[in-house]
Amino acid sequence: MRDSPLDRYITGNYGEDFLRGSSEPYYEDEMVSLWNEDFREALSAASDEYDAVITDPPYNVGKDYGTYKDNLEPQEYEEMLRDVSGVCERQAWVSSTTHLGAFMRALGDEARLVVIRRGAQGPLRWGMFSQFEPLLVRGHVEERMSDLWDGIRLTGEGYFFREDTFGHPGYTPLPVLQRLIRLMTKPGETIFEPFAGTGTCLVAAKSLGRRAVGFELNEAYCEIAAKRLSQGSLDLEYSASSA
Ligand SMILES: C[S@@+](CC[C@H](N)C(=O)[O-])C[C@H]1O[C@@H](n2cnc3c(N)ncnc32)[C@H](O)[C@@H]1O
Repeated sequence: MRDSPLDRYITGNYGEDFLRGSSEPYYEDEMVSLWNEDFREALSAASDEYDAVITDPPYNVGKDYGTYKDNLEPQEYEEMLRDVSGVCERQAWVSSTTHLGAFMRALGDEARLVVIRRGAQGPLRWGMFSQFEPLLVRGHVEERMSDLWDGIRLTGEGYFFREDTFGHPGYTPLPVLQRLIRLMTKPGETIFEPFAGTGTCLVAAKSLGRRAVGFELNEAYCEIAAKRLSQGSLDLEYSASSA
C-alpha cells in the first residue's frame, strides 16, 4: 500500500502526522502529548479536535525564550494571536495589562475580562505595585465563573510563598491554569496549548483528568515539561489538593 508523505499528499489522505510535519511527539502518555514544533504546523489538522484553548501567550516584550524571539513585528504578532483564536470557540488566555488590547482584538468582542486580585503588595512594575492580573475568557464555561478571583497565590507573591518557575522567564502559575481548566472544561475533554513552555497547562490538565495537546518551540522547555509530566511530580500532588 502506498503510504509515503508524498503518496498521502497525492491521495489527499494526509493524516495528522503529515500535517504536523513530524511523526513523533516529544512526549506522550494516555492523557497528554507534547510536540517540539511551531503550533501553526498543527492548525490544519486541528479543526474540531480540540474543545478549548487554555494558554499564556508570549507578550512580545523581548523575553529570552531561547529558540523563540519574543520581538515579532506587531502585525506578525497579532496574526499569530489570531491563529490561536481561530482554533476553537472556547478560549482562556492569561494576559497582561500591557497586551490586553492586542489580545482583545484577536479574541473579539465576546471575550470577557476576569481579574485576579493580588495581595496588597504585588510585584513592582514601572515603580508601582501591580495589584491585579487580567485573564480573557471566551465561549461556554462549565461552572459559573466570577469576574473577580481572590485567593489565588501568584508566582512571587507573599513573603513565604515560592513556586518553582523551572528557570522559564514566562512561567504561568499552576493554580491559575487549574482553576481555568476546572471551570471551562469537563473531564475527558481535550485542551490545546499552543505555547506550552515548561508544560504547566499540560500538568494541570492531566491532574484534573483532561486531555491536552501542547506545542513548544524550545526543546529545553519540552524536556522540562516531559519530566514534570512523567514524574507525576510534586506538581501533581499539589494540584490535587488545590484545584
Ligand atoms: C509565556 S511562555 C508559556 C509559559 C508556560 N505556560 C509555562 O508555564 O512554562 C510562551 C512560550 O511559547 C513558546 N512559543 C512561542 N511561539 C511559539 C510557537 N509559534 N509555537 C510553539 N511555541 C511557541 C515560547 O518558546 C515560550 O516558551
